[in-house]
Amino acid sequence: MRVGVIGVGCSKFGVRRDVTLQEIAFEAVKEAVVDAGVSREDIELSVVGTAGTRSYELMPAVPVNEYCGFAGRGPLRVEAACATGSAAVYAAYSSIKAGLVDVAIAIGCEKMTEVDTATSLAVGGRGGSYLWEFHQYGTTFPGHYAMHASAHMARYGTTEKQMAMVAVKNHRNAARNPKAHFQKEITLEEALASSYVAYPLRLFDCSPISDGAAAAILASEKKIKELGVDNPVWISGVGYSSDTANLSRRKDYGGLMATVAASRMAYKMAGIDNPLKQLDVASVHDCFTIAEIMAYEDLGFCRKGEGGRFIEDGGSDFGGHIPVNTFGGLKAKGHPLGATGVAMVYEVVKQLREEAGSLQVDLKNYRGLTHNIGGTGHFGWVFVFEV
Ligand code: COA
Repeated sequence: MRVGVIGVGCSKFGVRRDVTLQEIAFEAVKEAVVDAGVSREDIELSVVGTAGTRSYELMPAVPVNEYCGFAGRGPLRVEAACATGSAAVYAAYSSIKAGLVDVAIAIGCEKMTEVDTATSLAVGGRGGSYLWEFHQYGTTFPGHYAMHASAHMARYGTTEKQMAMVAVKNHRNAARNPKAHFQKEITLEEALASSYVAYPLRLFDCSPISDGAAAAILASEKKIKELGVDNPVWISGVGYSSDTANLSRRKDYGGLMATVAASRMAYKMAGIDNPLKQLDVASVHDCFTIAEIMAYEDLGFCRKGEGGRFIEDGGSDFGGHIPVNTFGGLKAKGHPLGATGVAMVYEVVKQLREEAGSLQVDLKNYRGLTHNIGGTGHFGWVFVFEV
């Protein structure tokens, strides 16, 4: 029995001082319910994905769920750091797959700007192994990914210019996405002139600290027929993995094992042996530009060490081998942790339904992928979608 996505919604991302967490979640939920053409009563389970810890609502699932009109139908709260949204989608998917419910909604939401940058970075730095890393060395997320960038540069000759090219591409895409945090293009020169946050990562190599929400409504094939939904997007591959809490226990900084394992699991389920030939679009986890370069390699879009050349040759741009992060990615669309994985589903569903407007990719296979990492490869999630 297949499970399909029947409705998606996404709030405007950015610094959203105009709304509470509940209100921003409702922006996304309202759009998803209208998009699915169902009533809220049809939805039997609500899963709220929020990493939390940066908002005054420390246990936000109940208030979010109630405000969105789903009291009594959950909520199930999930957390998987920056991959929280994907974990929420998985919980909704697996509840349907298990036959417990026929329709479920995954709501990803986060208000990150209620605390200052230093607090946000300190909280994020505790995302891996607090005692071994944050307490001992004070490492933060830009610092963790800077270690990956340094290793990649040393081993494969990846350059700061190639990383900046990821930022330029994603800002260019976000400039045409009215829901993006940053809607302005940047030049390579501007990116390379921005100040270092953690060498070799500069300001324009980092995703911003954002507020935002996204929602996806999933249903069983039986219910989709019953409701007469004529444009479902099927989930044909699911993969997940994780890696050590403590980065010093990892053998390799040139990539993320969690991405390799999760993608191979999803590819096997979806019958994909050549992702470049069988996928039309991908939304990948570019919390830092080096993360997108590693994702090209770990997802099998190019060989290990060739991610820098892949961006340089336009492989991930419109008209390239596989357009990546067509709505601006985490880098420029924004990265409200709990919302990110669900917003990736929103993007791929819009692309596969040919509703992406000026950001539409050419479809040959009618298949797309989402790749969402929590922490520094602490969680890895990959979904394959098709129509
Ligand atoms: N990319 C591009 N521009 C950014 C930016 C980013 N990531 N972050 C902030 N800016 C811009 C702001 O819009 C602002 O521009 P303006 O002066 O024209 O208004 C300027 O830079 C200063 O913004 P500010 O909010 O003061 O920046 P900051 O120094 O407090 O924060 C970072 C910058 C990079 C430290 C912060 O965005 C960050 O920590 N990012 C990483 C988030 C993270 O770790 N997420 C989890 C990943 S797994």
